[in-house]
Amino acid sequence: MKKVLAINGSARKDGNTAILINTIFEKLNKAGIETEMVQFSGNVIEPCKACWACGGQKNCVHRKDMFREVFDKMKNADGIILGSPVYSANISANMQAFLERAAVVCDMNPGLLKHKAGASVAAARRGGALNAIDSMNHFFLNHEMFVVGSTYWNMAYGQMPGDIQQDEEALSNMSNLAENMIWLLKKIKREE
Ligand SMILES: Cc1cc2nc3c(=O)[nH]c(=O)nc-3n(C[C@H](O)[C@H](O)[C@H](O)COP(=O)(O)O)c2cc1C
Repeated sequence: MKKVLAINGSARKDGNTAILINTIFEKLNKAGIETEMVQFSGNVIEPCKACWACGGQKNCVHRKDMFREVFDKMKNADGIILGSPVYSANISANMQAFLERAAVVCDMNPGLLKHKAGASVAAARRGGALNAIDSMNHFFLNHEMFVVGSTYWNMAYGQMPGDIQQDEEALSNMSNLAENMIWLLKKIKREE
């Protein structure tokens, strides 16, 4: 069974970013794809310490936070969804720290995420969503992954938890994104 892991970089558990991810999951589940969402919520992800000790380790050597556990899940997934609220016209600091560390681990151990499918989604009140999506897609594109697209960029608008439910265009775009991810996952056969 194919597996998709979603990482939600919001400080708010079950907020707007989670709603976007769950909208995608609904379709993935109907297609028989296993899903799991990790929410950083109140947890802090520490930034990279630039120690370069991850060579040959296939994970970060620092154990103070949930990074290692989430990165292991990433390695085991066929598809990865990165979701972030827009903070200061970009991704959340937790998502930035996570991707910083994941990028260095992948650079030091090439091929860890090769041929997985990736999609990024962002929840915003008003400005910076495209920037946030681009930041997350840069991670996929730098690690031999395939980026899944939709009929619009994968952003949605809302401020308070649940507001995003009013953004019908965004939700239908998320469903279409799910369909494209299902299509791609059926084609991809990763080497273990
Ligand atoms: C620290 C912080 C910074 C934010 N900066 C922006 C911003 O630059 N642009 C924007 O449109 N919304 C901004 N917002 C609003 C959130 O992106 C918006 O409320 C989003 O729906 C939150 O998603 P969540 O419920 O998943 O946390 C910010 C919110 C916080 C807490």
